[in-house]
Amino acid sequence: MSTRPRISARISAISESATLAVDAKAKAMKAAGRPVIGFGAGEPDFPTPGYIVEAAIEAARQPRFHKYTPAGGLPELKQAVADKTRRDSGYAVEPSQVLITNGGKQAVYEAFATLLDPGDEVLVVAPYWTTYPEAIKLAGGVQVDVVADESTGYLASVERLEAARTERTKVVLFVSPSNPTGAVYSREDTLAIGRWAAEHGLWVVTDEIYEHLVYGDAEFTSIATAVPELGDRVVILNGVAKTYAMTGWRVGWLIGPADVVKAATNLQSHATSNVSNVAQMAALAAVSGDLSAVGEMRTAFDRRRQTMVRMLNEIPGVFCPEPKGAFYAYPSVKELIGKELRGRRPQTSSELAELILEQAEVAVVPGEAFGTPGYFRLSYALGDDDLVEGVSRMAKLLAEAR
Ligand SMILES: Cc1ncc(COP(=O)(O)O)c(C=O)c1O
Repeated sequence: MSTRPRISARISAISESATLAVDAKAKAMKAAGRPVIGFGAGEPDFPTPGYIVEAAIEAARQPRFHKYTPAGGLPELKQAVADKTRRDSGYAVEPSQVLITNGGKQAVYEAFATLLDPGDEVLVVAPYWTTYPEAIKLAGGVQVDVVADESTGYLASVERLEAARTERTKVVLFVSPSNPTGAVYSREDTLAIGRWAAEHGLWVVTDEIYEHLVYGDAEFTSIATAVPELGDRVVILNGVAKTYAMTGWRVGWLIGPADVVKAATNLQSHATSNVSNVAQMAALAAVSGDLSAVGEMRTAFDRRRQTMVRMLNEIPGVFCPEPKGAFYAYPSVKELIGKELRGRRPQTSSELAELILEQAEVAVVPGEAFGTPGYFRLSYALGDDDLVEGVSRMAKLLAEAR
């Protein structure tokens, strides 16, 4: 019998997606008849707009879309993504600088796989979205955390980034609006971080998937456009999932210099080939249409955001800075850790989240999933009534903590 491990070390090191796991557990409890309210999901609760669905139906009828198409994406979609990027961010790119991917997630994987050699360091602001560490690790890269907490609204500064930079640093990951915190960098801070990266010859990988979900006086700033000094060392990750309520369609993209895009396309040509043509044609209708659908979603999200933050901050032991973008709130629950609650004494935010799921039938994602224990992530992409009921149940339970 071989003593070789059954699973490779590289793949064994990958953790299950904690956000999907919480969502799955909540859905399973719901299916078993329990009235669970889930704050775990990272997806809009709206259906995809009708004109986008119609474009997909029309595409499915065309025999040319029943066949393989270019691995890097349909030429008309690449052109439309280039046009959309110029329209929304003022960033000028050629279709040869666009790679259409299987969701934003594949763009994340391919960006790091294409840029990193073993040992290359990536500066990542924590709390961070759960997928980045796994993608960096798989590429052989080394993640260096730059922790930002609620005292700065989860925003990192040039000083903090500079303190973490070494001669091995190749990439800084810039995510604004952020998942999980909803933090949005001001134009000034974006400029400062971009210029600092340019000065040190760093690459910037920027995830712009929440670009259209900003609230109040917050503004989205594309670091690629704002800091021309970065030259061609910028890779933009984006997709249709959040803007057009299209999480299930699996279309994203990566924009970068032509050599990076060519190399990433080579990788994709062996891994997955072209993204489903039907989904690409739906994405084409989405990015070349107007932004009225996301405008309506934004109004609903903004209302829910304000309700959620107010209700969370009324719970003793919970503190939630105001999120400015995306659809997540990221309260600190540090003061509740170690307190007695229904005969138990949760020692971590993970244990506290489990207790809340059991006792209040409310699912939240613990901060452990995002590199910062002591917090919860709650998505407000759910109906207003469920939101109020869910946070009320949590508040009622947590009020018993002694
Ligand atoms: C910050 C961020 N980037 C990228 C993605 C990827 O989205 P998708 O793969 O559904 O396009 C997500 C999804 O949760 C996200 O939150």
